[in-house]
Amino acid sequence: MAKVQKIKGFVDLFPEEAAKFTYMERVARETFGRYGFGELRTPVLEKTELFQKSIGEDTDVVGKEMFTFPDRKDRLLTMRPEATAGVVRAFIDSKTHQPGKVSKYFTFGPMFRYERPQKGRQRQFHQLNAEIFGANEAQADGELILMLRTFLNNLGLTKLTIELNSLGCHECRPTYKQALVDYYKSKDKDKFCEDCQRRMETNPLRVLDCKVPACKELVVDAPVITDHLCEECEAHFADVKAILDGAGVSYELNPRLVRGLDYYVRTCFEVASYDIGSQTAVAGGGRYDGLIKNLGGPDCSATGFACGMERLALLLDHVELDRPDFYLAVVDKDAANEAMLFAQELREKGLKGDVSYAGGSMKSRMRAANKSGAKVCLIMGGDEMVNKTITVKYMEEERDQETLERSLYLASL
Ligand code: HAM
Repeated sequence: MAKVQKIKGFVDLFPEEAAKFTYMERVARETFGRYGFGELRTPVLEKTELFQKSIGEDTDVVGKEMFTFPDRKDRLLTMRPEATAGVVRAFIDSKTHQPGKVSKYFTFGPMFRYERPQKGRQRQFHQLNAEIFGANEAQADGELILMLRTFLNNLGLTKLTIELNSLGCHECRPTYKQALVDYYKSKDKDKFCEDCQRRMETNPLRVLDCKVPACKELVVDAPVITDHLCEECEAHFADVKAILDGAGVSYELNPRLVRGLDYYVRTCFEVASYDIGSQTAVAGGGRYDGLIKNLGGPDCSATGFACGMERLALLLDHVELDRPDFYLAVVDKDAANEAMLFAQELREKGLKGDVSYAGGSMKSRMRAANKSGAKVCLIMGGDEMVNKTITVKYMEEERDQETLERSLYLASL
């Protein structure tokens, strides 16, 4: 029979790999909780227009990478390519915002982008996401970056580079866009890729983010946003930097960092690793003050980030699964039921372990016990069954094997 293939770019996580994800989620919950964030879970499926209106029609994500299909009533739906748009939609729906109120949410989960799969790039991948609503102050951006760095430190990841930029605001960005358009006009238009020839008119900043080598080369001398910031953006950016400096966080200013999504204003940042191949960005984020209003919500500032869990997982050395406390080896088939009931008593006492279902040779059972990594191997054979005892073999201590009354053994735990 032909087997059903899994979908390209979609990945199964078996326990050893999944343990890394559980570990990241645990560290994230602890860290984000310390900063006053609460968990929000939103649907993986949203109306397509949500992403078109927020991420931007002219981005790769919306233009080329979304998993979009009609439902049974021909309404266009999209598997979320990122979490921010859905979190904003949920926040607007909740009608909980009041002027002056700050809300902080984190969310974990699968995202979907139709990209060419490679190391660190999948079509279903996972993000850890954090958003702050209701604070236009630079301190919120500073706090987020400090939280992100603390989280990465807590995972033991200290060799990462933070790149930082300001993208200006609706006041100063038009002047910068014009400077970019003038710059592009000074170049031979045909040398840019087709997408960029269009983007020059529709979204000049996007050209700076193009991955095509020829375009990359052509924008090397393009004007930089940080030379065009208005006074308020300049002061806002200075405060973000002052917070990072004050906390001793090192970062690199990258005036060409524009990010791949259109909703950003002012602060934007990425965290890069040079140890995971060509997909260097392990996290990215920034401020997106106009988005909540553009999606029909209140005039409320917002800032946030997301980490790519697959890329972080590539940097985590083997995260050990918790070792079992026991392996219960049944060596006489007739003892199988009694062994299962004894294992149940051990588990009710809070111990973790496995029981072999049926009888088998002592040698094969010992091999299984070793492989499981259990601290003790408990042996149940005919003698143990008759005498209501259990034989305990200590797997890591220099201690002789002993046979104990089962009730005494349970009482000793
Ligand atoms: P993003 O930069 O598009 O930002 O994605 C964040 C992170 O997700 C990336 O740095 C990367 O680690 C990971 N990632 C993205 N695409 C893939 C993929 N195909 N395979 C594996 N990992 C991937 C956002 O999504 C924004 N929503 C972040 C944000 C939150 N901004 C404000 N709030």
